[in-house]
Amino acid sequence: MQTHLKSLHDFTKEELVTFITRAITLKTERQQGVVHQQLSGKTIGLIFEKPSTRTRVSFEAAMYGLGGQVIFLSGRDTQLARSEPLKDMARVMARYVDGMVVRTFGQNVVEELATYSDVPVINALTDLHHPCQILSDIMTVIEKKGAIEDLKIAWVGDGNNMANSWIQAASRLGFELILACPEGYDPNPEILTTALAHASKPITLLRDPVEAVKEADVINVDVWASMGQESEQDKRLAVFQSYQVNDQLLARAPETAIVLHCLPAHRGEEITDEVLESPRCVAFDQAENKMHMHKAILEQLIGD
Ligand code: CP
Ligand code: NVA
Repeated sequence: MQTHLKSLHDFTKEELVTFITRAITLKTERQQGVVHQQLSGKTIGLIFEKPSTRTRVSFEAAMYGLGGQVIFLSGRDTQLARSEPLKDMARVMARYVDGMVVRTFGQNVVEELATYSDVPVINALTDLHHPCQILSDIMTVIEKKGAIEDLKIAWVGDGNNMANSWIQAASRLGFELILACPEGYDPNPEILTTALAHASKPITLLRDPVEAVKEADVINVDVWASMGQESEQDKRLAVFQSYQVNDQLLARAPETAIVLHCLPAHRGEEITDEVLESPRCVAFDQAENKMHMHKAILEQLIGD
């Protein structure tokens, strides 16, 4: 298995399935009161250059839950903020910790840290990918619907980091993905082209959200302006209006379709309060599953 988790494309189908099945087992064991200590004596560093509630706390809870230790570093409090080269940061951190969990802007930051680090680097969100989130989202889909291979997964809204990681997951794991994005807000074209070259099921990019959800088993929605795009908020609000996941859109989907949102949500924008609070929306199970998934990832990448 790869040392680093930079994107889902780094892993084979079997390796991704291993993360998911192990996370499901770890969740069951936690419910049974099993105490884990497999990362006792290990320390991870969290380096976050963007805000986070779920990812930070779930990685910290995961590490402590496996008997390990965590050092949290806000990007602005490190010498990175004063332009220390990433290759120096990577080699210094690797002398102190057994793994680095990084949330940042450019994917190149994760790539460069990984190039120079002797310990695993885990992508906790960049502008291009959110791989650990999509693994816990797929775990949630499997919990709710059973195996994912025969499901139709819809993405409605921005072709952002989440959409890119869903595309890589669809290609690797072999499920159908239908994305509806407004013109000018498509997913990364290279990621889509590479994914299509390896995909065993269709990955389709459309403009019409109704078309995307009409046969969907799962409907994914995310914010219209991601972190770092705050200045585009007003423009995006106008462009994305017809992409809101609301009762009218859900009325066009199968009654059994569930709604996923990685949170944080902007109620009244990409999703209505009614949908987010409805039993069809599994956002809070997704949030919980991040902790179980992060345990599985940490165990696999930094465990002995
Ligand atoms: N879903 C997610 O990554 O949430 P945070 O930004 O709170 O970590
Ligand atoms: N696309 C969002 C995901 C937040 C968890 C962002 O990057 O801000």
